[in-house]
Amino acid sequence: MRIFLDTANLEQIRRAKEWGVLDGVTTNPTIISRESMPYDELVREILRIVPGPVSLEVLSEDAEGMVREARELASLGENVVVKIPMTAEGMKAVRVLSEEGIRTNVTLVFSPLQALIAAKAGATYISPFVGRLDDIGHDGMAVVRDILQIIDNYGFESEVIVASVRHPRHVYEAALLGAPIVTMPFHVLEKMFKHPKTDEGLIRFKRDWEQYLRTVGRDGR
Ligand code: G3P
Repeated sequence: MRIFLDTANLEQIRRAKEWGVLDGVTTNPTIISRESMPYDELVREILRIVPGPVSLEVLSEDAEGMVREARELASLGENVVVKIPMTAEGMKAVRVLSEEGIRTNVTLVFSPLQALIAAKAGATYISPFVGRLDDIGHDGMAVVRDILQIIDNYGFESEVIVASVRHPRHVYEAALLGAPIVTMPFHVLEKMFKHPKTDEGLIRFKRDWEQYLRTVGRDGR
């Protein structure tokens, strides 16, 4: 599974990279709005640090505007992926961009049929939002399962990015489904490392080792 961070926070991106588990980054206008650095500067820095794809979202609502923005974004770096919303205009834009070789991530996907349309349009990535589906009493992971099945049934090249991840359980379930990519907030990635029995085990090893050194020692003296 490739792990993407759903953040534009440079500190979080640097830390995940140091841990050796960062495969890419996804952003959206809300995520960008949490930062205090001007957009161009922030994006250039993210593109420089991240060793894989970085999704940057367009704000236009018409296909022509989206394509124009996408070309500008794509010119910022080889690892740019342009995030396009799941609308009819968005799919027109995805078709044009895929023919130009510009990679796209179709966002705000909430149903398997939306994903089918995005795959047909030539999306590089498709992002179903599991957390927002769960929020309204639907089963976000069931939607992911069906999307994976449809992509497999027809041999589409689009890859699924499980998005709107709220907790480690979402990552666990996505892994069991074989989802190729999950994008997650930093706090979810941090929690994946943690287990109380690991912490307890470390304290015990340290205590027992110190006791041994005090009573027996290393060199018999
Ligand atoms: O990647 C999509 C994600 O940013 C949406 O997450 O938590 O706002 O539903 P959330």
